[in-house]
Amino acid sequence: MKNRSLISIDDYTREEYLEVLEVAAEFEKKPVQDILKGMVVATLFFEPSTRTRLSFESAVNRLGGKIIGFTDAASSSTTKGESLKDTILTVSNYSDLIIMRHPLEGSARYASEVATVPVINAGDGANQHPTQCMLDLYSIQKTQGTLDNLTVSMVGDLKYGRTVHSLIMAMSHFNPTFKFISPDELKMPDEYKFFLDSKGIKYEEHIELGENISNSDIVYMTRVQRERFADPLEYEKVKNVYILNKEMLVGTKENMKILHPLPRVNEINEDVDDNSKAYYFPQALNGVFTRQAIIAKILGLK
Ligand code: CP
Repeated sequence: MKNRSLISIDDYTREEYLEVLEVAAEFEKKPVQDILKGMVVATLFFEPSTRTRLSFESAVNRLGGKIIGFTDAASSSTTKGESLKDTILTVSNYSDLIIMRHPLEGSARYASEVATVPVINAGDGANQHPTQCMLDLYSIQKTQGTLDNLTVSMVGDLKYGRTVHSLIMAMSHFNPTFKFISPDELKMPDEYKFFLDSKGIKYEEHIELGENISNSDIVYMTRVQRERFADPLEYEKVKNVYILNKEMLVGTKENMKILHPLPRVNEINEDVDDNSKAYYFPQALNGVFTRQAIIAKILGLK
C-alpha cells in the first residue's frame, strides 16, 4: 500500500483490507502517536462533509501531522477558472498526501494520475467512498466478530449511494448474502448486480422494509441524496420512503447492528438512537482509527 493512491475499494485486496483493519485496531488502543511529525496532509473538499473531513483531520492531528486545505471550492482558485489538474499539481508541492472529495465521478482517479503524491478519494460523486467502506468493514468486524457469511440488508438510495457501491465490492470477498431494499427509482444499478453475479454472490431485491430485515446481521441505512437528483419532484416522491423506527426492530436478530454512513435526514427515527442495535455514532468514531491506519499504510509508517 506504500505510496499507492486509494481511489476505489477495489484497489485493495482482501488481505490488504484485513491488514488495514488490524492496524486500525492498534490505533483504537493507542490513538495518539507521533508518527506524522513534520508531514503535511492536504484536505481538498469540493463538496460538503462533516465526518469524512473532520475524522481525517482528527486522525492526522492525533498522529502529529499538520493539515492544510479548503472546505469549499468557493474559497479556492477553482472559482477563478483554475483546472483540477493545476490545483492538484500545485497542492502536490505543498503536501505529502492529498485527500480529496469532489462531486464528479472519476475526478479522484484523474487527480491520482496527475498528482506527485498519493491521493485518497474521500468520495467522488455517486461512484466510490473507499475510506467510508474501510470504516464500515471495521464496524462490521468489530460488532459481528467476523466479516464472513453475513446477511447484509442495504436500505434506501442504492442507485446514487457511493457507500453501498463500495461496500458490496469489499464484502464480496467474504461470502455475504445481500438484501437490497429500495424503491424502483433507486434500485442497485445493474453494473453492481452483474459484478455480484460474476462472483456468485447471493442477493435479493425488495421494496418493503418490514420483515426483510428480520434475519439480517447488518442493516445498512442510507439517505436519499437530494443533491444527486436533477429533478426536485423525483426527490420529493422518494425522500421519505423508509423511516426505520424502534417498533420495526422487534423480531430482528439479537446482535443485529444498524449502520448508516450519516448524515441522516429522517430515515432513522430518533427513537432508535438509544437502542443497543443502533451503531451509527460508534461507526463514525471508527472512522478516525480506520483513517489513521490508511494514512499510516500509504505513507509507509506501519
Ligand atoms: N459519511 C460521510 O461521508 O459523511 P460526510 O458527508 O459528513 O463526510
